[in-house]
Amino acid sequence: MPTAPPSVPDGFIAWIEGLPSSGKTTLSRSVAERLKASGRRVEILDGDEVRQMFSPELGFSRKDREMHARRVSYVARMLARNGVAVLVAMITPYETSRQAARAGVGPRFTEIWLKCPLEVCRQRDAKGLYERSRLGGVARLTGVDDPFEEPLAPDLTVDTGHLSVPEATNQILEHLVAKGFLPPPATG
Ligand SMILES: Nc1ncnc2c1ncn2[C@@H]1O[C@H](COP(=O)(O)OP(=O)(O)OP(=O)(O)O)[C@@H](O)[C@H]1O
Ligand SMILES: [Mg+2]
Repeated sequence: MPTAPPSVPDGFIAWIEGLPSSGKTTLSRSVAERLKASGRRVEILDGDEVRQMFSPELGFSRKDREMHARRVSYVARMLARNGVAVLVAMITPYETSRQAARAGVGPRFTEIWLKCPLEVCRQRDAKGLYERSRLGGVARLTGVDDPFEEPLAPDLTVDTGHLSVPEATNQILEHLVAKGFLPPPATG
């Protein structure tokens, strides 16, 4: 009897947005580790890295940020339709970009807002951007001298100002299960 080909789980896109230092890189990595441990194929499209590769000629105007988000969204779709769990970790300051990313995918898309007060982000300052901005070395830092539009319709809001990294990771994984993107954890 011919054996059935192995089934490939459906891909999805989790679009993780928020201010600089709100936790996008940290949480996309911790979620990716957990997904990989369960045997999923995972890719992270992290704003900084992909910007260097996809959009080195772009700056930080609204037009350029939206163009960059469109490029990332296009690649995310190609991966997701081939069964990959795609974690996009990008500030995504404009609602138009979020809605465009969602519209291109349909139901296997979820928007996750890492809601963290600007003051907490400023204190964490994982990459020293806020300090550099204070000293005049960074123009158009989101949240400081460039806008971040509050997301209008995120599927999940994670309070990264108060939660620990493991708590926030679990919240995201539970959300992905609730969306039907991941199987429920085995019990017993
Ligand atoms: N609940 C939490 N979730 C995520 N990060 C947290 C949390 N609590 C504390 N942190 C800390 O906050 C910092 C977040 O930095 P991270 O580089 O992940 O932010 P980012 O959103 O990727 O920023 P950027 O837009 O500059 O790339 C890390 O130092 C992380 O350890
Ligand atoms: Mg980051």
